[in-house]
This record gives sequence, structure tokens and C-alpha cells, in this order.
Amino acid sequence: MLVVFIGPPGSGKGTQAERLAAKLQLPHLSTGAMLREAADAGSEPGRRAMQFMEHGHLAPDELVIAVIGERIAQPDCARGCLFDGFPRTIEQARALDQLLLEGGRTLDHVLELDVAEAELVQRLLRRAKTSDPPRTDDTPEVIPERIEVYRRQTTPVLEYYRERGLLRTVDGQGAPEEVFVRVCDTVGYRGT
Ligand code: AP5
Repeated sequence: MLVVFIGPPGSGKGTQAERLAAKLQLPHLSTGAMLREAADAGSEPGRRAMQFMEHGHLAPDELVIAVIGERIAQPDCARGCLFDGFPRTIEQARALDQLLLEGGRTLDHVLELDVAEAELVQRLLRRAKTSDPPRTDDTPEVIPERIEVYRRQTTPVLEYYRERGLLRTVDGQGAPEEVFVRVCDTVGYRGT
């Protein structure tokens, strides 16, 4: 199964993708986490991406597409995978279609997590206080910029998938377990 999770910062993409990945025994591919790991490792692409990430801006399309293209070619993605935070631009969405097409595959589901803006900000500020070390982009200055970048650059991707009949909107508010029930219903997962 190939599933894309889309939503603004703090909407629960990581939380829900991780849970579904554990149930389906599929890799959870978070481009944010992959870029942070690359930056921590001191690689050139990682350092380049971090210059954008710390200001709440998107890393360049060609960099992210190369990272994801390499990752989905790994054998553990042969049965499918869950994309968390990719694609975030129309160019990335087109590139993903092309990469999948080359392997004779297509997306099964695109899930948009819908959460009110005030709740997003609260969640991210709460995480800033509890995570150690805190993420450099979980700050009162950068959080609004990340949300604005989502509205400007990623919401067109919703339309891209709506036109293709793939988009499903899931209410992302409530406890994580409640949201997960909705996610499972939406992708048709009936396991325990
Ligand atoms: P990324 O790491 O993807 O961050 P993000 O999109 O800003 O999302 P978050 O991880 O903050 O939130 P989330 O929606 O995953 O929610 P989570 O489950 O973590 O990207 C970081 C940066 O990398 C980007 O800004 C960009 O610069 C770059 N990047 C990444 N992908 C890119 C791409 N494709 N192209 C270009 N650049 C890219 O939850 C958030 C918090 O809320 C947690 O503390 C969690 O415990 C809590 N929470 C979750 N669900 C609930 C709930 N139901 N109720 C209460 N709390 C909840």
C-alpha cells in the first residue's frame, strides 16, 4: 500500500503515519526526519536543506525528490510505504507520480489531516517545551511561517490529488487514538 499524509505542521502526520506503519509493517518515510538526519550527519544535502528548514521554508524540490527517489528504490519499500510530509509542492507530486510509474505503481490513498490553526500552534509550542533537544523550527517566530508556507505552497497539492480522486480529508482533532481510528477507516485497515 502506498499512502501520502498531507497536513500543516502539527496536524499529526508523523504521529499517524508511524502508527499506521507499525500496523501495516511498512516503512514510514518522513522527509523532515530524513533531512534532519542528513543535517546531523553533516552531509552537504543535509546542510543545504537545514538553511531552509530553520527558517520554516521548504528545502529545494530537486534535493527532496533525489532523497525520496533513492529511499523508495530500497527493497523494504517494495510492498509499499507511507509518505509523511512528501510531496509538498506540485513539482514534487508530479515527480512522485513519475517515480512510482517507473516501478509500475500508483498511490492508493492521500490523507489530508485537518486541524484548526490555533490547535496546531498549541501542539507545536507544547512540543517545543517537552522535546530534548527542541526542534529549531518549533519556535514562536518560525511556527507561523511554516503554517503560511503550507498554505501557500502545499495546499495546491490537495487540489492535484482531489482532481485525481485520491484525496480524503480526515478530522485530525481529538486524541491521537481517535484520529487513528478515522485514519484506519479511511484506508480500509480492518486489523486489530
Ligand atoms: P517536518 O518534519 O515534516 O515537519 P512539519 O511538516 O512541520 O510537521 P511536524 O513534524 O511539525 O508535524 P506533524 O504534522 O508531523 O505532526 P506530529 O505528529 O509531529 O518538516 C520539517 C521541515 O523539513 C519543513 O518545514 C521543510 O523545511 C523540510 N521539509 C520536509 N519535507 C519537505 C518536502 N517534502 N519538501 C521540502 N522541504 C521539506 O505532531 C506534532 C505534535 O503534536 C507532537 O508533539 C505530537 O505528539 C502532537 N500531536 C499529534 N497528534 C496529536 C493529537 N491528536 N492531539 C494532541 N497532540 C497531538
